[in-house]
Amino acid sequence: MTRRAILAGTGSSLPRTRVSNAELAKRVDTSDEWIVERTGIRFRHIAEPDETTATLGAAAAQQALEAAGLSPEDIGLIIVATATPDNTFPASATKVQALIGAPDCIAFDVAAVCSGFLYAVSVADSMLRTGAAKHALVIGSETFSRILDWEDRTTCVLFGDGAGAILLSAEDVDDDRGILATRLHAEGKYSDMLYVDGGPSTTGTVGHVRMQGREVFRHAVTNLASVLGEVMADVGLAAEDIDWVVPHQANKRIIDATAKKLGLPAERVVLTVDQHANTSAASVPLALDLAVRDGRIKRGDLVVLEAMGGGFTWGAAVLRI
Ligand code: UT7
Repeated sequence: MTRRAILAGTGSSLPRTRVSNAELAKRVDTSDEWIVERTGIRFRHIAEPDETTATLGAAAAQQALEAAGLSPEDIGLIIVATATPDNTFPASATKVQALIGAPDCIAFDVAAVCSGFLYAVSVADSMLRTGAAKHALVIGSETFSRILDWEDRTTCVLFGDGAGAILLSAEDVDDDRGILATRLHAEGKYSDMLYVDGGPSTTGTVGHVRMQGREVFRHAVTNLASVLGEVMADVGLAAEDIDWVVPHQANKRIIDATAKKLGLPAERVVLTVDQHANTSAASVPLALDLAVRDGRIKRGDLVVLEAMGGGFTWGAAVLRI
């Protein structure tokens, strides 16, 4: 028997308001044609004032609890991956804990921007396997719309708000179910290519997203292909063994180029960037929940998750559902 973190449930939550490219083009110098051609994005959800990273995260967590047939009392660990917390502190994870009514447990945030969910999954996997908790909620939740410069068309058209959650349970298994491998990377020397120009310790303000898009694009394809190769080698499997890839949803061209590099057919890649845009740490769990709920991802499937973002940080995980 091997102790593993098993996927017991998924959930997601999107803000009420959905904005099309055409609507955006009324307030920003852009066009539906440019956005679709360069990114594949058609819509994004934008949070209203009463919708926050914690409320969206809590709604996603509640769905994951229901899907797993568990209650808040069962949860021993809550990790929220986010770059847009409700407050500088306390951690959004403690806010989620209060909102879902979970009693005393471990709760903290992980900040690795778009790779945050992969970092959170890897930390939860280690903590579950070493006995820190039996059941964990791992959440990616963002309200990126709050840190966008709506005058900067090179960034504001790319992002959206939302949350996704998974429930992981520690189980002793005699098969290959559960998280089989995770790999994480960071290279801080590239921090000025994708960053926020403010913060508590520098400007005392929240700041806005700044990005050298073309450079980020180039690094993303290289790093994602390489980390996917690493996790697949860790589990001794090849591209043809993968049932589904759930990639970070930043740009359809990055997703297509990465899949092509690995020889993965487009039919096995879950794509939501057209509907959600880039929701940073929320994009992978949002896409995963969608594909689980519509029946594409089923028990027994081999699923690969990957993401890359500011830092740079990047990572991947392989799991058997
Ligand atoms: O979450 C992880 C981090 N994010 C990413 O992975 C994003 C990575 N980068 C990208 O997805 C792409 O680089 C972008 C979508 C950001 C940009 O696409 P691109 O093909 O690299 O375009 P570009 O930056 O080279 O810009 C091409 C042109 C420029 O005009 P000129 O200089 O050629 O006249 C821009 O000014 O497109 C112009 N442009 C726009 N035009 C209309 C930039 N943004 C817009 C816009 N609408 N929103």
